[in-house]
Amino acid sequence: LKEMPIFQNLSDEHLLLISKGFSINKVKEGKFIFYQSEESTDLYIILDGAVKACLLDPEGKELILNIFKKGDFFGELSLLDGKPRSATVIALKDSVVGILKREQFLTLLKNNPMIAISLLSALVERIRMTDEMLGAMAFLDVSRRILKYILNIAQKEGEKTEEGYIKINKITHRELASCTGASREAVTKALKILKFKGIIFEKNGHFFISPDIEI
Ligand code: CMP
Repeated sequence: LKEMPIFQNLSDEHLLLISKGFSINKVKEGKFIFYQSEESTDLYIILDGAVKACLLDPEGKELILNIFKKGDFFGELSLLDGKPRSATVIALKDSVVGILKREQFLTLLKNNPMIAISLLSALVERIRMTDEMLGAMAFLDVSRRILKYILNIAQKEGEKTEEGYIKINKITHRELASCTGASREAVTKALKILKFKGIIFEKNGHFFISPDIEI
């Protein structure tokens, strides 16, 4: 638990207390951890693996709000306001999650301002990312949204090549569509344009992006 950013500043005594009320669950890739509108209020912490929080429409179209990885938590909205889940959460790979009950976490919050501060900074970061996504959807066409998404990943995980490009693992059309609110057809068309303009090229399962592109 000590390695989890949200619990970093807790005393051993508090960590022991949490570990007692903490249940651990294994979830298989593709499994739904909970659904949007579901009445549940536990907090989840990812001990291993990765999950996506998304909105699904009745036809199965998906908008990914965020991807959470080891050390991240999710489910904080229902935990804090007691209302139904705001989104569906699905495991992206085999994962292990720790689950904390609402009452237990609220007691912890009351006694530990540092946890409240960690929680607030994560919430603030999530609002900033949501604002950015909203802005992109309102003001950018699909190819720019896709380019922005790819550039964000390149900034976080990219590797510079000798030729001065940034190399990242290829992103599937499905992920690009789900993360940018575009249809798959629109993604295919937009990628064609980006490649035609020489902004992106693809080789051996990787994307290569020129670093000086402006959106
Ligand atoms: P909760 O509403 O309890 O369940 C769904 C979870 O998805 C939510 O808590 C957050 O943890 C996460 N979530 C919902 N909306 C966003 C968002 N805009 N950005 C990041 N995470 C979100």
